[in-house]
Amino acid sequence: MCRLHDTRSEKFKNGEPELALTRPYVERAFSVIGKDFENQSRLEQQASVCAQCHVEYYFTGPTKAVKFPWDMGTTVDDMERYYDALNFKDWTHKISKAPMLKAQHPGWETWRDGIHGKNKVVCVDCHMPKITKEDGTVYTDHKVGNPFDRFEDTCAQCHTQSKEQLRNIVSSRKAQVLNMKLTAEKQIVAAHFEAGAAWEAGATDDEMKDILQDIRHAQWRWDYAIASHGVHMHAPEIALEVLGTAVDRAANARTKLVRLLATKGIVDPIAIPDISTKAKAQQALGMDMETMNKDKKHFLETVVPDWDKAAEKREATYP
Ligand code: HEC
Ligand code: HEC
Ligand code: HEC
Repeated sequence: MCRLHDTRSEKFKNGEPELALTRPYVERAFSVIGKDFENQSRLEQQASVCAQCHVEYYFTGPTKAVKFPWDMGTTVDDMERYYDALNFKDWTHKISKAPMLKAQHPGWETWRDGIHGKNKVVCVDCHMPKITKEDGTVYTDHKVGNPFDRFEDTCAQCHTQSKEQLRNIVSSRKAQVLNMKLTAEKQIVAAHFEAGAAWEAGATDDEMKDILQDIRHAQWRWDYAIASHGVHMHAPEIALEVLGTAVDRAANARTKLVRLLATKGIVDPIAIPDISTKAKAQQALGMDMETMNKDKKHFLETVVPDWDKAAEKREATYP
């Protein structure tokens, strides 16, 4: 099990997620969307505890403080508007020079817009279920894990379908999301290379500006839809809708690019290099893996231990 779900941490006191937030930026983020933690229902609070980590966030300012980009709301459009208004970018694409956003894992945000979120079925209902022992006593399972492994204590608490039926539904949604993901990817990759070709053909910043914004939006949407593991279960319709808009933004970029390239005398299709493996794709796309991995490292080595230290201090005060 991931050590961040350690039941000794203050977020999981005695296996129950403790209903307190530990960092001021989390409280601020909930206030901004009109959901002050202290005014949330118990169920909402339970989900908010998981939202401390399973959310979209970015690092801001000279101290690289964590912030959730929720000032305008938590949907893909809201966060996109927020980042655009700030002119924020995580990295610049090597080939298209588009100002890119990297989604972290907006799991709470997508869950919230899905059918279970809307019905206040929270993370722990499925991932940390209450278990009834043979002698009738009830306890909370400490292990965060795959809810299908404990079907009777999770899904079957509310659903009458068999495990097999529900599993099939979830699997087919997983396949649908994956398929749309690949569809969007294909368009986005082509847009990056066509933009690269436009630069090479002498396009100006002015001519490229709108196009790069379309590419930024397309890839942000692709990322938002898939960066949250389990989204095919939590909110498949959100994932599919957002991926649909990713295809749309990529199509906008590519339509403009075809026209722009034509004005530069280029009418033949632009060749797309081999991106059949992850490493080849990262290389071909000029992805700044170093920075991305550094950010991840910073989060795991600096932000998280910070939480852990705060937890230890608090725990020392527990009776
Ligand atoms: C302190 C940060 C933090 C909190 C709070 C947190 N998580 Fe996580 N969680 C993580 C990280 C980081 C990972 C990825 C672990 C990895 O892959 O190494 C993860 C992975 C997971 C996974 C997939 C891997 C697994 O262990 O099965 C599930 C499911 C999960 N979390 C559920 C939850 C739920 C439910 C809550 C609230 C009760 C919660 N998390 C609260 C940080 C956190
Ligand atoms: C209605 C039940 C349900 C709820 C509510 C729910 N999950 Fe899940 N979650 C699942 C199932 C089932 C899977 C595994 C899907 C699969 O097997 O393909 C999953 C997968 C995940 C994964 C990926 C695990 C992996 O190994 O890839 C993470 C992370 C996760 N959930 C976190 C959360 C968080 C955080 C919340 C609340 C914000 C939440 N879940 C709410 C049922 C649920
Ligand atoms: C605490 C109750 C609860 C639990 C636990 C729960 N669900 Fe649900 N589920 C609901 C509710 C409420 C709905 C809303 C639709 C309805 O049934 O009216 C729903 C809807 C669904 C749907 C239909 C969604 C759609 O898009 O139409 C599926 C599929 C589903 N759940 C699967 C699961 C699976 C798989 C699990 C276990 C991993 C699970 N649920 C756990 C309460 C629950």
